Amino acid sequence: MAIEKTQACLPGDDPVKSMEATIKRTVKEHGTPLEIASCGMLSGNMARARQIMTPYGWQDNIFYSYKTNPVPEALKILHQNGAGAEVISERELNLALDLGLKPDRIVFNGIYKSPAALKTAVDKRIKCINIDAPQELDIVNQLSKDAEYKIGLGLRVRPSVGWQGQFGHIIKDGSAYAMAQKISVNKKLDLKTIHFHLGSSNLATYRRAIEESLAFIGILNRKLGTAIRALDIGGGFPGPDMRMLTIWEQGWLRLWDRPWPFPAAGPNDGFKIMEETAEYFNSARAKYGLNDLEMWTEPGRLITGDAQILAVKVVGLRKSGRKNYAVVDGGRVGAAGPLVGETRKVSVLGKTAGIKNKVYDIVGPTCMPWDRLFAGVRLPKLEMGDILIIEGAGAYFVPMEAEFSFDKPKFVMQ
Ligand SMILES: Cc1ncc(COP(=O)(O)O)c(C=O)c1O
Repeated sequence: MAIEKTQACLPGDDPVKSMEATIKRTVKEHGTPLEIASCGMLSGNMARARQIMTPYGWQDNIFYSYKTNPVPEALKILHQNGAGAEVISERELNLALDLGLKPDRIVFNGIYKSPAALKTAVDKRIKCINIDAPQELDIVNQLSKDAEYKIGLGLRVRPSVGWQGQFGHIIKDGSAYAMAQKISVNKKLDLKTIHFHLGSSNLATYRRAIEESLAFIGILNRKLGTAIRALDIGGGFPGPDMRMLTIWEQGWLRLWDRPWPFPAAGPNDGFKIMEETAEYFNSARAKYGLNDLEMWTEPGRLITGDAQILAVKVVGLRKSGRKNYAVVDGGRVGAAGPLVGETRKVSVLGKTAGIKNKVYDIVGPTCMPWDRLFAGVRLPKLEMGDILIIEGAGAYFVPMEAEFSFDKPKFVMQ
């Protein structure tokens, strides 16, 4: 991915319609496939999230999830607009530090933290290292011997809702308590945060996880004498114009190789969920006698998802059997990895949907049969050279790019 910074920030209420002329000019200048991010939307989304957290004094507790879109130009804008960083690797940690972010604005997550990364985190005194794999604690215990301060730690727990599997320590079976106990034994460690991440969620899921975590924090403070100051509820607020395919949609596609023929519910409004979650957290903490407990969040797709589009060019049109195929110069394999289990809004630049619509399978340029962006999508009649715009490309497109026979998309900021 080559980064080129162009132009000053543009407003971007509707990334495609309001910026049609700009997109056309940018595509002409830089070619395709091309990621175009809107500086105005990045800062607008951050401002909205901060506004939601401000009534509680938590506006500085938003740690943008680097993995979602680790493009330095975009990250700089987010940091200028008050975002901290949530990182999950040595590379991301070093990137945050290289961008000049203050260490106390960095939260370190992930199920593998290398010894070198942990050393950097401790040496730089970052805000919080959220312990997940048990081996991390052994390393931190070792590092604490030379540390001249109490190392700030969190513990990733697993409530009964949301992602399960390899992440976090289960609250219900006592594993999370046992891990907290191990941390509390070392007086050079300060267990100050409990953390969970649920995956894309709705309000009901957050409420349940918050209740279970608050009860757990109460127990830790009482029994182990910890002074936990924050519950870090991770990311998972859905972004507009992007959603996971349901299990039914995925099954149908597998079975019939056609898209789900019935209406599917759109994504929930992530900002609304964030607002309602903060409200709920604020009232629930009082119930557990945790009035000073703060809420932290690590949004990814909510902040950058709709602030970026991917422009690809139609480079081939063919009919094979009953299907119309449009070949584009950036596929799912090289440019749009999330489309394996998610979907996005797609349109044709400068053409409005009408009666001339045709049904297409949109496929990428590689030799992989699964290099398909959309199956059976209805679009205005396509011609060679048409530009397709895929919205919601600011969430997980860039980190999943691959240089498979073709170049990765370029990136420009508008
Ligand atoms: C620990 C953690 N925090 C935050 C996020 C960001 O999630 P989202 O982009 O759904 O907000 C993720 C995504 O996987 C994550 O694993």
